[in-house]
Amino acid sequence: MADPIRHRVDEMWPLTSVWVTGQQSSPVQRRGRYVPESTQHPARMLPAIARHAIIAYTEPGDMVLDPMCGIGTTLVEAMHLGRDATGVEIEQRWCDLARANIALAASQGAPGRAAVLCGDATSIGQVVPAALRGRYALLLTSPPYGPTVHGHVRPGPDGVQKSANRYSDHRHEGNLAHRDLRGLVDGFAQILAGSFSLLRPGGHVVVTARPWRTRGELVDLPAAVVAAGVQAGLQPVERCVALLAALRDGRFVARPSFFQLQQVRKAIARGVPLHLISHEDVLILRRPTDTSPPNQRGRATARPATAGSLSPGAARAGTNGDTPPARHILDTPSGDGGEVA
Ligand SMILES: C[S@@+](CC[C@H](N)C(=O)[O-])C[C@H]1O[C@@H](n2cnc3c(N)ncnc32)[C@H](O)[C@@H]1O
Repeated sequence: MADPIRHRVDEMWPLTSVWVTGQQSSPVQRRGRYVPESTQHPARMLPAIARHAIIAYTEPGDMVLDPMCGIGTTLVEAMHLGRDATGVEIEQRWCDLARANIALAASQGAPGRAAVLCGDATSIGQVVPAALRGRYALLLTSPPYGPTVHGHVRPGPDGVQKSANRYSDHRHEGNLAHRDLRGLVDGFAQILAGSFSLLRPGGHVVVTARPWRTRGELVDLPAAVVAAGVQAGLQPVERCVALLAALRDGRFVARPSFFQLQQVRKAIARGVPLHLISHEDVLILRRPTDTSPPNQRGRATARPATAGSLSPGAARAGTNGDTPPARHILDTPSGDGGEVA
């Protein structure tokens, strides 16, 4: 069945490898669609990015998984697009907000359903019910990263005050946000490996990630994400760019965070020609259609991920349209997901 929403979006913004997702600011994109407390989360995905990925890689009625769902952006956007979704989140505080957000979407008549499971996604096989194995058409997520890119700032008597820049008040051992880069990438690889069997053959994995700078050095998280996916048995099929800046009359209108501006200005003052990063890298991988275990399979034949190497249409052609509908399995009222851990 043709997807009318997708058709409308195609007409406005054709699905290219540069995703035009920053035309409206984050507060405008969220107004009336998310509970106001959602701003307490330090690193939410832009709703337009989630929408674009869901439209590009799923059909209405498909199931979407976000193993690190934060306040539930993936779930809310999936519901509004008529997809069903499951989110996993380790922090009780964000689970509660994600549930409030999916309840809000349901109250607004969103046709899809969603559930939030509070647990550690590095053991996702024990968190998501076994009945859902092989059902998900799309895993869409973003890992936590670099504290310098998070939070709100306000000038105060003792200089700039930072707020809403922490994932948790306590140091939760399982939260990948508290690990160093090696630990973060290892944990993320574990999540992807555990999610492999939840995806249907040909199902896609879309991860948004931003490189960040530590003492001037670029930390290339996107490359590490692709490596983690390959390690988990996934095939890289595409690499796109999601704009955080708006396009107005052929020009970029950037919306940098305070921290980004500060870093770039300081670097330029030192004579280092840094530029603002006004996009997220979008890494797209796929569970091979050959369902044999990764260690018994030949090497992935997909081209290595390079910006715009494959069109979203080409990537979609590999999805397995024979997967039976799974709506009845997720037959819980929105916001009423089981507490698993
Ligand atoms: C970048 S945020 C995702 C934000 C989300 N896309 C949204 O729009 O709200 C990453 C999330 O992963 C969660 N997280 C970190 N480690 C986790 C783990 N081991 N299992 C599940 N969630 C985890 C963090 O608490 C955080 O909320």
